[in-house]
Amino acid sequence: MTSKFLKLTSLTIALFAMGTGAAHAEYPEHPITLVVPFAAGGPTDVVARSLGAELGKILKQPIVVENKTGAGGTVAAAHIANSKPDGYTFFLHHNGMATAPALYKNLKFDPLNSFEYVGEVVDVPMTLLARADFPPNNLQEFIEYAKQNADTINLANAGPGAVSQLCGSLLQQAIDTKFTTIPFQGTGPAMTALLGKQVDILCDQTTQTIPHIDAKTVKFYGVTTKDRISKLPDAPTLDEQGLKGFDFKVWHGIYAPKGTPEPVITKFNGALKEALKSEPFKKKMADLGAEIVSEERQTPESLKNWVDAEIKKWGPILQAEGMNVN
Ligand code: MLT
Repeated sequence: MTSKFLKLTSLTIALFAMGTGAAHAEYPEHPITLVVPFAAGGPTDVVARSLGAELGKILKQPIVVENKTGAGGTVAAAHIANSKPDGYTFFLHHNGMATAPALYKNLKFDPLNSFEYVGEVVDVPMTLLARADFPPNNLQEFIEYAKQNADTINLANAGPGAVSQLCGSLLQQAIDTKFTTIPFQGTGPAMTALLGKQVDILCDQTTQTIPHIDAKTVKFYGVTTKDRISKLPDAPTLDEQGLKGFDFKVWHGIYAPKGTPEPVITKFNGALKEALKSEPFKKKMADLGAEIVSEERQTPESLKNWVDAEIKKWGPILQAEGMNVN
């Protein structure tokens, strides 16, 4: 028996087990839900909808993006952990998958045991922004201003577990200052508040911020990665402007409920790899400063190993900072 035959046979068995009732039906037979743990219109949502459009073409079924917000992504992750493993529910999440165990004591999921892993997707740099009429014009001025006016400064973020929160915390540590934080259900609404001048600063991903930086509707103090990014070659990093060692970017992965049949994961992973090579997705991500991960990282094993490594990296840092929320 060839391995191809074995694979096809196990896909047919899996489809029977999933209760499709049709021995030769091909997965997927109806729309697939891709859950996003933050608000519509924000950076995670942008990646999900752009990727979903390509996955839909490849899998020949619509990918319906569902925004399930709350508690820095942990509400959505718990929902996925308890969803039916029938191949019709997937989850796009970022670093929050790995920081959650250190931040939340009573998690209703285990990042290393409650999911099947599909693969990594994109890395996204972050940018430090302020409202358009905020007095400081650059990072140096901002640091001076922050030291004198810390108690008046409002930092918007998407709550503990969000990368905007982690980036904001790293910034406060780096300049040894504490701001008042204003949490939103995602940085989509946080950006609306920044544009409306209801909050002062926001650390957010380029997948949302580039259009606003280009349009100069916000003040822009620098990028959070160690090196400059090709999309914003003239923009200095926080590191090169004096915040030595500041180096943070966002990674994204796709998950499914534990028990999702292996042939389904293999098919979805194949579609993911194809989508990551598609011109519309490549162009959209390049325009927004995001970098598609290498082929080696587009695998279930790579994502699981990465989540494990990130839990080990961030757990002690977050605990030492006393950042847990319950
Ligand atoms: C979002 O999509 O709203 C952001 O990824 C939230 C965050 O800052 O983590």
